[in-house]
Amino acid sequence: MFALIRQSRLELVQGDITQQQVDAIVNAANSELAGGGGVDGAIHRAGGPQLMAETDRLYPDGCQTGSAVATGAGRLNARFVFHAVGPIWEGGHSGEPALLAGAYRRCLELAMEHNCQSVAFPAISTGVYGYPKNRAAETSLAAVCAFLQTHNQPALVRFVLFDAGTLAAYSQALETLTRDS
Ligand code: APR
Repeated sequence: MFALIRQSRLELVQGDITQQQVDAIVNAANSELAGGGGVDGAIHRAGGPQLMAETDRLYPDGCQTGSAVATGAGRLNARFVFHAVGPIWEGGHSGEPALLAGAYRRCLELAMEHNCQSVAFPAISTGVYGYPKNRAAETSLAAVCAFLQTHNQPALVRFVLFDAGTLAAYSQALETLTRDS
């Protein structure tokens, strides 16, 4: 499924983000940038040790929740990895939506700063961090659409969703969002 927002294409696909060929691949990291399982583990395995060496060197204090930092992409088919830190779901009354939106927005700002035309995002916070998928989908897609409306770039934003259930949740949210706007 896809939507056109001004001159940008917003795509939803099912797949493995480490196989994407884009300018920037977004990681769902933790605030220590310490590595982990899920998509973080997969990105570090595929990218190789350069990623951890760079986060250690450039960001010894880690990254705040709701933000993101950039490194090179090592062996991945990309120029950059943006390590984004989504919120841990605590029931929805601890500012989770603003923090999740902030993580996506910061990645898109980094894309502009680094001249990236294409960015691939995972479903940040929807795994270990427990964010309900339908709510994460609404918030994440609304943040990306608003950014594309305002900035008219990057040219391609692709959500790479690991399983059919996650793709269905994000497709439903994008349909609602584009119908209502
Ligand atoms: N490609 C795309 N999506 C993937 C992949 C992959 N290779 N592997 C997992 N996912 C999906 C999961 O199915 C989930 O929908 O990524 C989404 C995010 O899940 P997590 O990786 O668990 O990320 P998150 O919920 O943000 O938790 C972050 O987990 O791995 C640790 O270090 C990480 O502490 C941090 C926390």
